[in-house]
Amino acid sequence: MPESWSRREFLRSAAGGMAASAALGIPHPMRPPRPLPPESRWAAKPVAIASANGLRAVQKAFDMLMQGADTLDSVVEGVKIQELDPNDDSVGYGGLPNAEGVVQLDASCMHGPTKRAGAVGALENIKTPSEVAKLILKYTTHIFLVGEGAKRFALSFGFKEEDLLTEHSREAWLRWRANLSPTDNYLDVPDSDHLVVTKTGTINCDAVTPQGDLSSVTTTSGLSWKIPGRVGDSPIIGAGQYCDNDVGAAGSTGLGEANIKVCGGFLTVEHMRRGMKPTDACLETLKRVVAETEARLLDPQGKPKFDLVFYALTKRGEFGAASLYPNRFAAHDGTEAKIRDTAYLFTRA
Ligand code: GLY
Repeated sequence: MPESWSRREFLRSAAGGMAASAALGIPHPMRPPRPLPPESRWAAKPVAIASANGLRAVQKAFDMLMQGADTLDSVVEGVKIQELDPNDDSVGYGGLPNAEGVVQLDASCMHGPTKRAGAVGALENIKTPSEVAKLILKYTTHIFLVGEGAKRFALSFGFKEEDLLTEHSREAWLRWRANLSPTDNYLDVPDSDHLVVTKTGTINCDAVTPQGDLSSVTTTSGLSWKIPGRVGDSPIIGAGQYCDNDVGAAGSTGLGEANIKVCGGFLTVEHMRRGMKPTDACLETLKRVVAETEARLLDPQGKPKFDLVFYALTKRGEFGAASLYPNRFAAHDGTEAKIRDTAYLFTRA
């Protein structure tokens, strides 16, 4: 089935949902795709939003929403593009490793219609942690599996154990290790242009269907060179993402420790519950982050030395994003998928 299969073509499909499910190739779908109601009965403007690395994710998620796919299936299939992309060194395969050169992945998701949640932390050798989080959500009474247990759970569903280091991520780690100290036994190596790396990176994606059903997912390789076992905000329900089918969904990227302390995904949805618009809700959460930031992470002007971004979406399809410093996000607003500017609290000197 072509990516751009239209709603009308879907409705004409004699085979209906099951055939579409197979054709969409969704492993373990939350439900088979089903025909959309007539547009006059839509409860929401269908929308998909994501972090700036999620332009392909929002296009994929939106296309799937319009093919009648489930909201969580849509966002997970969206972020999997990034997880499987060796050129994104912040997520999944090719993500930058921990201090010992091991890639440990975190992810979580929530499904509004069923009020369920799933998460994995410090997962090794599996390329798509978002899918594993979805399987925990769908098939278990648990919410959060970590480490070896999370891997064994994934293997039981047929996932393949794979080396997640790419040539780029291994070289970046070897250089980091060599340059750690001028007095250790590794000779320092000069910086090189082709090895520009970002310390944090993540993808969050949130979507609402025409029926007003919401989901959210966040997936990451976490802080590069982290202490083995470190888990960031991404797999923490209420921090890396949160979704309430009566209100909206929100997620975050950036320095996870700063988000965990304010439960930023949850807080942003709560701000929207009290009537704030998505962008204002994100800004309000960021003000709390600044208030909770310890002195060592503030510059002499009292501004954070890190960035953090929140993305938010309401049940009706209003959306926005805000960051500490100017940043970008991706959104498909029903017309087109494009990169937009976030609102922000501070400018850089
Ligand atoms: N926000 C991703 C992390 O800190 O791990």
